Amino acid sequence: MAVDLFAIFLVVTQSALAGSIAGRQGYDAAGVEVQISIDDTSGHNDTSPMAYGIMFEDINHSGDGGIYAEMVTNRAFQGSNWITGTVPGLDGALIVESENPSVPLGPVLTGWGPIGDVRMTLNTLHPLSDALPTVMQIDVPAYATGEVGFQNFGWWGMDVRPQTYTASFYALANEPRYMDNSTTFTVSLRSNLTGEVWASTTLDTLRLPTLDYVQLNATIENGVTAPNSNNTFAITMDASEVAGQTFYFDLMSLFPETFRDRKNGLRKDLAEAYVDMGVKFLRFPGGNNLEGVSVDARWKWWETIGPLKDRPGRLGDWGYFNTDGLGLLEYLEWCEDMSIEPVIGVYAGFSLDIYGQVGTDWPEDRMDEVLDEALGLLEYCMGDTSTKWGAMRAEHGHPEPFDVNFVEVGNEDWFSATYPYRWNAMYNGLKAAYPDITIISSAFDENDDYTISLPDGTIWDTHHYEEPQYFISRFDFYDNWQAETGNEGVGVFLGEFSVYQVDTPSGVVDYSNPPNLHIFHPRMISALAEAVYALGGERNPNTVRMSAYAPTLQNFNWYNWTPDMIGFTADVTETVLSTSYWWQWMFSRFTGSKSVPIVPTSGDFGPLYWSSQWHEAANKVYVKVCIKGIALQPNADCHSSSTSTIPRPFLSRSTSTCRTWPSMPRFSQPTIRMRQIPSSTPTW
Ligand code: AHR
Repeated sequence: MAVDLFAIFLVVTQSALAGSIAGRQGYDAAGVEVQISIDDTSGHNDTSPMAYGIMFEDINHSGDGGIYAEMVTNRAFQGSNWITGTVPGLDGALIVESENPSVPLGPVLTGWGPIGDVRMTLNTLHPLSDALPTVMQIDVPAYATGEVGFQNFGWWGMDVRPQTYTASFYALANEPRYMDNSTTFTVSLRSNLTGEVWASTTLDTLRLPTLDYVQLNATIENGVTAPNSNNTFAITMDASEVAGQTFYFDLMSLFPETFRDRKNGLRKDLAEAYVDMGVKFLRFPGGNNLEGVSVDARWKWWETIGPLKDRPGRLGDWGYFNTDGLGLLEYLEWCEDMSIEPVIGVYAGFSLDIYGQVGTDWPEDRMDEVLDEALGLLEYCMGDTSTKWGAMRAEHGHPEPFDVNFVEVGNEDWFSATYPYRWNAMYNGLKAAYPDITIISSAFDENDDYTISLPDGTIWDTHHYEEPQYFISRFDFYDNWQAETGNEGVGVFLGEFSVYQVDTPSGVVDYSNPPNLHIFHPRMISALAEAVYALGGERNPNTVRMSAYAPTLQNFNWYNWTPDMIGFTADVTETVLSTSYWWQWMFSRFTGSKSVPIVPTSGDFGPLYWSSQWHEAANKVYVKVCIKGIALQPNADCHSSSTSTIPRPFLSRSTSTCRTWPSMPRFSQPTIRMRQIPSSTPTW
């Protein structure tokens, strides 16, 4: 049968490719010739419709200050930053630095500055809500003149471009001195360098309430492109109206136009970068950030829904407070807007611990509580409006149930000794309530003390942050994985992976981020190694159903973990789509409906790695080829000796001399590096 042949190359090599491959069904490249047969269907397998997706958790300010489009930092004084470190003689990590010196993680005024003659303080006597008890108090002295108010410096700046911005805030006046007064607010976008006002809107003059807060809303039509992102969002008043008054403010918010125009939605350029990749699913909300640094700090989905003023936020796992503005419903709408599948991580009764690696486990006889949390979450997602949580979802503006087909039990729960009983409780309970959902286990055989028995129909999520050669050596790892491990009915999800450091003679990944070994940004060599690993998944679609690079997003002003796939700042022109982004872009956009064996007629794998898919409807065959260049110095013991086509012998872990997984310490190891959010001292 004649088909069009498209070869997609990822190359880093100094040797030239011989010959042309386009339009030929056999080709020479660096001494290798292969044949692809689409007529012999015996080796064809259906490809996975879910091969490439997104892993997302709020890390590196990927959510707040990242894809969650809110431009105001510290908008509701929910909590502050902290840094953990090790102390000689003590196990685990300790809080070694805290933004709030007296109450670690407590509220701060970071990110805010006064305008004119005002005094700014935090106040807890006039809470906006139970969830948001701390507000900003603004005292305007009796002698004040001119413009008075305050401004926010954004997430290390604010991007100002021609578009409509949506602003809102809650305000309350202090009764004793606010008698027959009225107030006129102006909201504006300004340069933090020159004070120039780019755009502003003046609200109708009003008499503020003195008992309950009022929410004020405005749009700002902006027609200019600011020369840089050193801009602020200001809320100001006229001292002639407000001198001598005291006001309370909370939940100040500013949104640009968002992805698919969602209220409380996603930053457009970052969301579009994901869409452009052709991803098929979103795994959320973690990652470690699901589990919490204590049981109480776990991701409590029910505290992430409803009006923003009722969301307390939480201490995230990555050194900063999460607003939870990007909550469960927003994640589901994210999937809806991208037409991708939600893969929801449910809390499984294990939380990390700042003070050690051991963590906290729920006892077996209380697992029903943990299961109930997960069942409630699924009812919120899928229940009809006659159910408690389905009705709540309708009240939140989304009466139509979402479709949830994948649920993951915990995250890397092999860290805990108790996963066997927790997995059983969760699997049995979830399956009984939702027989059609595919349940993903976050552990299989990583813990030396047990192997999880994975029922047919489940998926194992395996995570790898490694050196390049590790991924190269795993090209054929999944070839006979199901048969070799007795998991014929089990799939695999390469749920988090990326090259973490350069190759070392020992092959042991050093998680202390030594600058001479650690890769701080994805490199071509990272992309190649990751791509070879992904090819191994593509040619085993019966086994490897899903994959996702991690972490995906990083605000360049704050990192917990590097490298990351996409880096960005407030300035949308500074977004960097890395080499690791582009290999996934190529792989996920060029997929077929059948994986097709490639038979080498001369030569062998290495330096070429390949897989091939047939797009029946388009009558095209896509051949993906990665070429390992001289920069990759293989560790001879780890080098794959692959010689044949699918199916291939399973590269047994026990006989491999590569580093054995797992050996990765977690939580305490990623050092937080951050630039300071601008201080609250105005520069003009
Ligand atoms: O991606 C960073 C972290 O790595 C994730 O939170 C966790 O699942 C893994 O250990």
